[in-house]
Amino acid sequence: MRIGIIGVGTVGGGVIEIIEQKRDEFHAKLGVLLEIAGVVAKTEEELAPFKAKGYKGFTDANSLLEDDSISVICELAGGYELPFKWITKAIEHGKNVVTANKALLAKHGSEIFPLAGQKKCHVLFEAAVGGGIPIIRTLQEALVGNQINSLSCIINGTCNYILTRMAAEGLSFEDVLKDAQKLGFAEANPSFDIDGIDAAHKTAILASLCSGRFVDFEKIHITGISDITAKDIKFVDELGGVVRLLGLYNRTGESVDVRVHPCIVPQEHLLAGVKYVLNAVYLQCDNLGPTLQTGAGAGKLPTASAVVADLVSLARSTETGHIEPLPMGWFQKENSATLVPIGETSTRYYFRFVTKDNYGVLSKIAGILGENKISIESILQKNIKNREKVDIVVTTEKAKESDVQTALAKIDSLPEISEKSRMLRFI
Ligand code: HSE
Repeated sequence: MRIGIIGVGTVGGGVIEIIEQKRDEFHAKLGVLLEIAGVVAKTEEELAPFKAKGYKGFTDANSLLEDDSISVICELAGGYELPFKWITKAIEHGKNVVTANKALLAKHGSEIFPLAGQKKCHVLFEAAVGGGIPIIRTLQEALVGNQINSLSCIINGTCNYILTRMAAEGLSFEDVLKDAQKLGFAEANPSFDIDGIDAAHKTAILASLCSGRFVDFEKIHITGISDITAKDIKFVDELGGVVRLLGLYNRTGESVDVRVHPCIVPQEHLLAGVKYVLNAVYLQCDNLGPTLQTGAGAGKLPTASAVVADLVSLARSTETGHIEPLPMGWFQKENSATLVPIGETSTRYYFRFVTKDNYGVLSKIAGILGENKISIESILQKNIKNREKVDIVVTTEKAKESDVQTALAKIDSLPEISEKSRMLRFI
């Protein structure tokens, strides 16, 4: 199978490395021969090390897209517009596609997959979600005998790294962010990580696969982690929890509740043990019950291993002719899922109110919560050190988000409140 690789950065380089390492083994054990027909990069400088090894290198992707001897295009460049053009052109030319580009699939998947279906081409994307964790194949194949009732995932390594280090070392968000970016996991646009956008791209893809319907990334509620403070992480620790940025999918009748935001996860929950850059996907399935998949969610070889798995799968299907293109109904706009608006969702909440030390403040706060049908579960207040800024931490029983928003707005307008109230949802 002749492969054209567009993008020879971290992941592209890793794919070439693994193919070189395992080519003979794949041939001997699986009967498939993976041949890299050419590579594309932006500059001659990037191509130089690959050309030195004997690969054909180009700075124009059309050199591969128009080559009829190439049956698979591997898009590993990232970004939206050019990859969209390359992938659609590859499909128009009857080529299969392998991509790790979650942002592209979340944005243009509803155009790419139906086109692939029409042209009877495969678009495989195991590496797009959870790096090396085989979650796409798990949802599409291994769990086909199950309905996925809910999914909770830690799907952005950068955020998980920041939150884990803030908790372990009591550091501020800003302190850890720079280190996280140095690790090489971060997106080119750092806002994609810390504002939850990358996690939402991946959650939209997973939610579409879980529901069998198109879950539009644009309609997902997203909150990132830049407002999380070391102080809240410490209070949450005292309450027996950890803070994680989660992608959430819940099936509620005919609708689906899909969200990305920081959550309090109880210390005994399997997701609480997922630390630093690890990713994890926790599923509740009707027949299997709960299951957790975890592993490296990014990085050169973990992500490249998922790309190589897709390439081998394509090569085997070409050999045997057994694998038909998968039904793409879950990525068609006319088959869209109805999303539960965030205001209609219900969960338990954590609030931290910062108040002046006046008589009756607590009763005013409790009164507003009560008026809005929010039942207090626990209250925590430490010795007063600064009479202008007293922290009052409240956890609630299950309450409705719209009621919570109304109550918080009212509490924040009290003259005694010194800072905007903090809110975290429990998993
Ligand atoms: N920026 C992503 C992360 C990389 O931090 O997990 C892989 O998608």
